[in-house]
Amino acid sequence: MKKELWWKTSVIYQIYPRSFQDSNGDGVGDLKGIIERLDYLQWLGIEAVWLSPIYPSPMADFGYDISDYQDIHPLFGSLADFDELLEAVHSRGMKLILDFVPNHTSDKHPWFLESRSSRDNPKRDWYIWQDAAEDGGLPNNWLGVFGGSAWEWDEVTGQYYYHGFLKEQPDLNWRNPEVREAMLNTLRFWLDRGVDGFRVDVIWHMIKDAQLRDNPVNPDYTEYMPTYDRLLPVYSTDQPEVHEVIREMRELMDSYEERMMVGEVYLPVHRLMTYYGVDNKGAHLPFNFQLISLPWDAAVIAAAIDEYEGALPTDGWPNWVLGNHDRPRIVSRIGTEQARVAAMLLLTLRGTPTMYYGDEIGMRDIPIPFDEVQDPQGLNMPEKNLSRDPCRTPMQWDDSNNAGFSSGKPWLRIDQRYVRNNVELQRNDPDSILSLYRKLIALRQREPSLVLGVYTPVFADQQMIVYLRTYDGSASFLVALNLSHRPAYFRPVEGQYLGVVVVSTNTELEGTRVSGSLSLAGDEAVVVRLDRED
Ligand code: GLC
Repeated sequence: MKKELWWKTSVIYQIYPRSFQDSNGDGVGDLKGIIERLDYLQWLGIEAVWLSPIYPSPMADFGYDISDYQDIHPLFGSLADFDELLEAVHSRGMKLILDFVPNHTSDKHPWFLESRSSRDNPKRDWYIWQDAAEDGGLPNNWLGVFGGSAWEWDEVTGQYYYHGFLKEQPDLNWRNPEVREAMLNTLRFWLDRGVDGFRVDVIWHMIKDAQLRDNPVNPDYTEYMPTYDRLLPVYSTDQPEVHEVIREMRELMDSYEERMMVGEVYLPVHRLMTYYGVDNKGAHLPFNFQLISLPWDAAVIAAAIDEYEGALPTDGWPNWVLGNHDRPRIVSRIGTEQARVAAMLLLTLRGTPTMYYGDEIGMRDIPIPFDEVQDPQGLNMPEKNLSRDPCRTPMQWDDSNNAGFSSGKPWLRIDQRYVRNNVELQRNDPDSILSLYRKLIALRQREPSLVLGVYTPVFADQQMIVYLRTYDGSASFLVALNLSHRPAYFRPVEGQYLGVVVVSTNTELEGTRVSGSLSLAGDEAVVVRLDRED
């Protein structure tokens, strides 16, 4: 395949380090554990690994509250372990992406401790401090994503500080040049060590309205939504000046060789696109969460793919995501059978795919009894079923004790069905979802059309999505997916789309010829290598 940038051709695999592999029996996954499992990822065909945060942290939000940006939390190991991991990743021809959390620090970070110590501390302005309103109330109506007001009163200095998430996660003031410099230095620290890229946490939150104006009420709010959705966060997020900051981060990346940034952005497509930046000098990949957010409906998804493809800036590289540590797992959203169809969609669309650990074996969300809930989002809004613990349970490796994850008591329950659903079993089963993932990834690696090729929509209705992937001089592929449980048909003009099924959710179809109409059973999907026309 033509030499292309790694972040365009690789499949990215997200590891939630707490839950991947524990090597020392404390019930929490760690870096040495990840090293032990790299051979598995290589076998699967993964070429880039993203780790959720591994830095020192009081763990109020499981590592997304960082108290030191330049070290490793002892739970996960040491800097020496990290260097070993990086070396082990690179020696397998893979890349390592770290999570970078620039919007907020932990309230235990030395910067915040200084900042809150007095009003005239030199770091006071590193965070967002405000006087009470004239009536003694909150500075404005902004809400925290995890519930309640986004303002926390500080008794000692008599001001409020702003936190878009937990009160233990005060927001940095990115309008302050010293903050920018200090944070860019933390990036340099990891870039110099050889890290290949960063997933940038809540990148669209980084700058807030300079006047701190009240957010308007959301007219579509219902009591079933998270309380945060009562308002439209038009002044607290997605401000124009954020793009200057992203550009600075990008310039830093570009001063090293082949490094990349993928930005976490939950916004409508037309806003999402602005995160590619002017002249594509923003985030290399602003995460595209459509497949996570939209209802699993063929017509809706087909339209969303077209909208996304059409909205991309020239030379903006697309990407697709099926799951992450904040959202319900794909199997729990659409069922075991459709999760296979989703795998085929993810791995045959145009753009870099990001997979979430365990989705390749069809792991599901596990009910966590209320007295075991750990996620602050779940604890703060107990009546809304928002806990993210169910999608963060330990990886199911084999049928031994604790699914091979740990010799100690796991920090979070393991799916009791692990005995029947684990990597080892599925590895040896050609019909398993794991085998399907592996085949699809291998096919992508062999076929330029599936990675670099053009995407052309062919047909969509209430059940099916059909599209073509073509690339000059290479074999073309027709992908047909049945997103329903009922049989579905696609009848092209006679003589069109003749070829052979190379991968299917139903292995019996592999190797069969397609000529004329294509009929798929419920939950079935095929990738067809088209006959050459010459
Ligand atoms: C992002 C992370 C999420 C975290 C939040 C606050 O959305 O993915 O896990 O809780 O940011 O840092």
